[in-house]
Amino acid sequence: MILRDALLEGTRALREAGVPGPERDARLLLAEVLSMSVGRLTLEPDWDVSPDQIKQFHGFLARRSAREPVSRILGRRNFWGRDFEVTPDVLDPRPETETLIDAALKGAPPKSLIDLGCGSGIIGVTLLAEWQMASGICSDVSQPCLAVTTRNATTHGVRSRLELVQSSWFEQIDGSFDLIVSNPPYITDDEMALLDPDVALHDPHLALTPGGDGLSPYRILATGTQTHLAPKGRILVEVGWKQGPDVAQIFSDAGLTQVQIIPDMDGRDRVVSGRKDTQ
Ligand SMILES: C[S@@+](CC[C@H](N)C(=O)[O-])C[C@H]1O[C@@H](n2cnc3c(N)ncnc32)[C@H](O)[C@@H]1O
Repeated sequence: MILRDALLEGTRALREAGVPGPERDARLLLAEVLSMSVGRLTLEPDWDVSPDQIKQFHGFLARRSAREPVSRILGRRNFWGRDFEVTPDVLDPRPETETLIDAALKGAPPKSLIDLGCGSGIIGVTLLAEWQMASGICSDVSQPCLAVTTRNATTHGVRSRLELVQSSWFEQIDGSFDLIVSNPPYITDDEMALLDPDVALHDPHLALTPGGDGLSPYRILATGTQTHLAPKGRILVEVGWKQGPDVAQIFSDAGLTQVQIIPDMDGRDRVVSGRKDTQ
């Protein structure tokens, strides 16, 4: 079969299965099978796709039709221009988390930072890669997440400046940091009942929800800034799009100043930041 026909067939199969963006996903999966860039697919419509490659493509299409995300099928996700390994143990990184990176990079480079609930390490590893003079900690309560973060840190050349600590939030963390970042689990009990199958079936429950109103990690993080945020340090957290005002209030109540709610590319509240101005 030639490439153009394989692509048409794949797009049709995904569309019939109700997958959103069927052509985009069919392209990503076929490009992987052919070890070709997605852009090159358009330039090679008559490329000969072997029977083994068609078999592998059909396997990928069946998994995507069952709503397994493309990044889980490929085992990687691009984030802030770098490819990160993802496994079933970690949250599939979301593009909207780049809002947090953008906001962090607009501030002064820190000497020390900590990423709490690091998952695959996208936040901490990206910031250390961007700030070559910084060092820091990635921590998570999940040991498998730390293993994935370690590999991503090695891939992106920041392993020597990164410590990995298994901890529930600040419980095993010593010292203070110029920058605290976190994308904690924040989905409420009510929202969990309505989740899209791409998310509900494939992201770890631990990464999605802390239960209840989804705000408990923010209360812990805000309290932790009293001990673990250095004077003049900053904290930036990702929030659910309805949680901005509540998290901003939690930060203000904890004595943080210059509290800001920052929107994502879709204009929805996505990040809350605060600063410690006292000694
Ligand atoms: C929404 S995911 C974010 C992962 C990653 N930072 C990202 O942005 O893709 C939340 C992470 O918090 C971790 N987590 C859940 N409860 C935790 C706790 N009590 N202490 C530390 N980390 C926790 C989960 O294992 C998960 O990796």
